[in-house]
Amino acid sequence: MKIAVLVSGGGTNLQAIIDGINNGTITNTEICLVYSNNPGAYALERAKKAGIPSVCKSPKDYETRAEFNEALLQTLVEADPDLVVLAGCLVVIPESVVKRFQGRIINIHPSLIPSFCGTGYYGLKVHEKALERGVRVSGATVHFVDEGTDTGPIILQKPVMIRDDDTAKSLQQRIMEQAEWKILPMAIDLIANGRVKIVDGHVVIDDYDDKVLSEL
Ligand code: GRF
Repeated sequence: MKIAVLVSGGGTNLQAIIDGINNGTITNTEICLVYSNNPGAYALERAKKAGIPSVCKSPKDYETRAEFNEALLQTLVEADPDLVVLAGCLVVIPESVVKRFQGRIINIHPSLIPSFCGTGYYGLKVHEKALERGVRVSGATVHFVDEGTDTGPIILQKPVMIRDDDTAKSLQQRIMEQAEWKILPMAIDLIANGRVKIVDGHVVIDDYDDKVLSEL
């Protein structure tokens, strides 16, 4: 399975995918492209080090948003991935891309959707809101991308307990380490091996109870 990974920042989730492919926890998968909207994204360095083709196209490089959207669509069409993975991608994915790759785009979000998600919930803000609300557990979610924001069918989730001494930063780091870097590679491997389907708007995973729950 060919995947295109869209990034905007440090690329630790991209690194988890690269490492997963190299150590065999992700099978039947190759990264055909890394795209970033941000030329300063360290994720692009990670792609280069791993010998993965990368491209950077920022909305700022285009007269209109429509032109940027078209350029992003064409970039993905040319790369022709089987799956598009949003790994810390802060660009709003154009409807044209969602339609073209319907049911073949996944995203990692650093909370247990439907909590602390939707427009404006990204990066540290997600964890600040969780601490502000005083929840005892947060975590991460991998979901399919649909026309909404963080509203597509949920594939995997992993909880992370919140500590009294947590700051937004310490919580973000622990959710990345304990949840994101585990469930995103796992979701990719499941999809690459044909074990994930969407039935009536809900994700069904083959052998979920025996094969996935025990590993989560
Ligand atoms: C992660 O916290 C991810 O959940 C969110 O953005 C951050 C990306 O981090 N979508 P990185 O670029 O993968 O290190």
